[in-house]
Amino acid sequence: MNKENFAGFYKKSIAERQRIAAREFAMNDSEKTLLTKEGPLPFEVANRLIENVIGTYPLPMGLATNFVIDGKDYIVPFVLEEPSVVAAASNGAKLSCGFTTKADDPIMIGQVQLVSENPSENVIGTSNGNPAGSPSTASNGNVTNAALKIVTAKKELLEFLKTVDPILVKFGGGPKDLISTVLKTERGEMIEVQLLVDVRDAMGANAINTMLEKLAPKLEELTGMDARLKIISNLAIYRKASATTVWTKEMLNESTKGEVKGEEIIERILDAYAFAVATPFRATTHNKGVMNGIDAVVIATGNDFRAIEAGAHAYACYQRNYTPLTKYYKNKNGDLVGEIELPLALGLVGGATKIHPMAQLSLKILGVKTAQELARVIASVGLSQNFAALRAIVTAGIQSGHMKLHAKNIAVQAGATEKEIDEVAQRMVEAREVNQGKAESILKEIRGNAPPKGKMIIS
Ligand code: HMG
Repeated sequence: MNKENFAGFYKKSIAERQRIAAREFAMNDSEKTLLTKEGPLPFEVANRLIENVIGTYPLPMGLATNFVIDGKDYIVPFVLEEPSVVAAASNGAKLSCGFTTKADDPIMIGQVQLVSENPSENVIGTSNGNPAGSPSTASNGNVTNAALKIVTAKKELLEFLKTVDPILVKFGGGPKDLISTVLKTERGEMIEVQLLVDVRDAMGANAINTMLEKLAPKLEELTGMDARLKIISNLAIYRKASATTVWTKEMLNESTKGEVKGEEIIERILDAYAFAVATPFRATTHNKGVMNGIDAVVIATGNDFRAIEAGAHAYACYQRNYTPLTKYYKNKNGDLVGEIELPLALGLVGGATKIHPMAQLSLKILGVKTAQELARVIASVGLSQNFAALRAIVTAGIQSGHMKLHAKNIAVQAGATEKEIDEVAQRMVEAREVNQGKAESILKEIRGNAPPKGKMIIS
C-alpha cells in the first residue's frame, strides 16, 4: 500500500475510491464485490453521512418481541452483531408484567467555556508549577463578577436566542435557561455557561451548537472574556427516561421449569445487584448488559450511540462511584421489581434517523410518535436486557443460552458446511463445550475424516 495514492481521497468519486482501495489492498474479485455491491443503504446516501466512503457495512437486524410498555404492544428492531441479545431482551420482556415508563422533556445542555483574555486573571494557584500569574487560592473577583453579569443579562440573552431558532420555538421548544458557574481548574478560574434548550424531537446537537455560537460573542461582549468551547454536553441529565417492571416468583419459577425456584432466582439477582453496587468491575459488565439492548435500538433508529454510551456511563458515576444503571428490590409480595433510569438524547428528526432508509423502517416498525416515546421504549429494552442476562447468569450460567446461539458461529469458524452447522452446534452445546477445538473434533467425527461436501461458508 502506498499512502501517496490516498492523497485527496475525499475529492474522488465513490467508484474511484473503490478502485484505489481495491488496487492498494490487492483485493480479489469476491472482496471487490463486497465493496461494490449496493445494499439497503444507497452509496449516495452513505456518501452524505460520512466522508471517504468506499462501501457500506451491513449488520444483522432482528426484532425483539413481547414488549408491553405503558399498556401498548411494541416490536423492537435491534441492529447488532452479538448472538443471544435479541433472544434475551424478548425473554426478559416475556417474563415481565409489562413496563411502566417516564421520559423528561427533551432538554439538552450546551456549554460555553469562558476564559479570561488576560491569563493572569485566570490563575488561582501554582500547583502545576507553572508561574503564569500571581498565585492565589481565592477567586480573583473578576471572573465572579463576569459570571454575575451573565446572570443579570439572562432574560435578554434567552430572548435573543429564541430568534436564532424560531421554528424550534414554534414547536414548543427553544432556549429555557442559562446557568453560569465559576470553575476552579488547573489552568485557573473559568466560567461554565450552561444553556438549556428544549430540542423537541431532535437529538439537539445542531440546534444547540448553532445557538451557542450565536451566544458566544454576546457573552464575550458582556464579560470581556474569551468564549472558547461552544458545544453540546452529552451528559443530558435533564433528558432522562426511566422504566420499571415486576418479575413475579411464579413467572421466574416457570422460566427454569422449577429447576431453580422463583424465590431463589430473586434472591440471587438481588445478590448480583448488590455485588454490582459494591464493585465497579462488576457494575461495568452489568451496564454492558444494559447497553447491549440500548445500543442495538439506538443504532437501528439511526441515533448517535456514542453520545448515548458516553452519557449513560457518565450518569452511572454522576456525583458518586460508578454504579449500575438499573436497580432491583423485592416488593411486598416478594416479587422482583426492576428499575432503570438514564439520560437518553434521541432524535426522530435530523441526521441518519431521517436519511438512512433502514432507520426510517425501524421507526415505522416501532410506531413511536415522539423522541420521548422512543426513549421510554429504549429504557424498557435496557431493563429487560439486563434482567435477562442476570437471570441467566444466576441460574444456568450465561454460556448455556448465549453459547447455544453463538455455537453456530463457532461451527462456521471451524469450517462446518451449511448442512453440518446445526449438528456441530447442537453437539457442542450438549457437551457444554463451545469452542473451535471442540467444533473441529466434532466435524472430524461427523465426516469420518472425509473431505467436506457442499459449499463452505466464509465468516
Ligand atoms: P431459554 O429459557 O432457554 O429460552 O432462554 P426459552 O426457549 O424458554 O424461550 C424463552 C423466550 O426467549 C422465548 O419465548 C423467546 O421470546 C426468547 P417464546 O417465544 O418461546 O414464547 N427466545 C428467543 N428469541 C429469539 N430467538 C431465539 C430464542 N430463544 C428464546 N433463538 C435465552 C434462552 C438465550 C433467551 C436465555 O438464556 C437468556 O436470556 N440468556 C441471556 C443471554 C444474554 O444476556 N446475552 C447477551 C450476551 S452476554 C453479555 O454480553 C452481557 C453480560 O456479560 C452482562 C452481564 O454480565 O450482566 C452477560
